[in-house]
Amino acid sequence: MQDDRELVSEHQEEIISRENSEGGQAESSNRRKFLTRVGWGGVVGFLAINSAAFLRFFYPRVLFEPASQFKVGLPADYPLGTVNSQYQREYRTWIIRLQDGAFFALESKCTHLGCTPNWMEAQKKFKCPCHGSGYYITGLNFEGPAPRPMDRFKISIAEDGQMLVDKTIRYPGVPGKESNEVYPESLLRV
Ligand code: FES
Repeated sequence: MQDDRELVSEHQEEIISRENSEGGQAESSNRRKFLTRVGWGGVVGFLAINSAAFLRFFYPRVLFEPASQFKVGLPADYPLGTVNSQYQREYRTWIIRLQDGAFFALESKCTHLGCTPNWMEAQKKFKCPCHGSGYYITGLNFEGPAPRPMDRFKISIAEDGQMLVDKTIRYPGVPGKESNEVYPESLLRV
């Protein structure tokens, strides 16, 4: 009886030992597979990054900006005493026609910290939403922290009769001065 029990016990130990050994081999094989995958992942990632850098080398480093000269239509399209915001988004410029018929192109940029003011038709003024600066229709500042009038750009008549704005020619606002007087050449009379 005693011998039988010893025999069974030895047999059980052998089975357990075999199972442990097989389990260890499987675990080792899994670890190897995992490490192989990680290794290949690293190689593929490295090649992908290098390929992207290589291709980027051929892509031109150009900054696409709107043209500095652009046409804004015929003078007759603009009623007297109006601010046209049609070119504000793309060119950051308002086309303004004063009551006496003169045109000028005003940069849509507050001279405090550069926000874009809004034209308030009811109050006939530009109002900056950032810190409350206010400007008359001529661009002259009269309230808030803005230190000077907004800048103007050159506006002229092109060969086809349309008005042409040239942002390369700028008339910077002078503190406390009306740009109509400082820069009479910024006005277009047709
Ligand atoms: S940016 Fe216009 S008031 Fe400050």
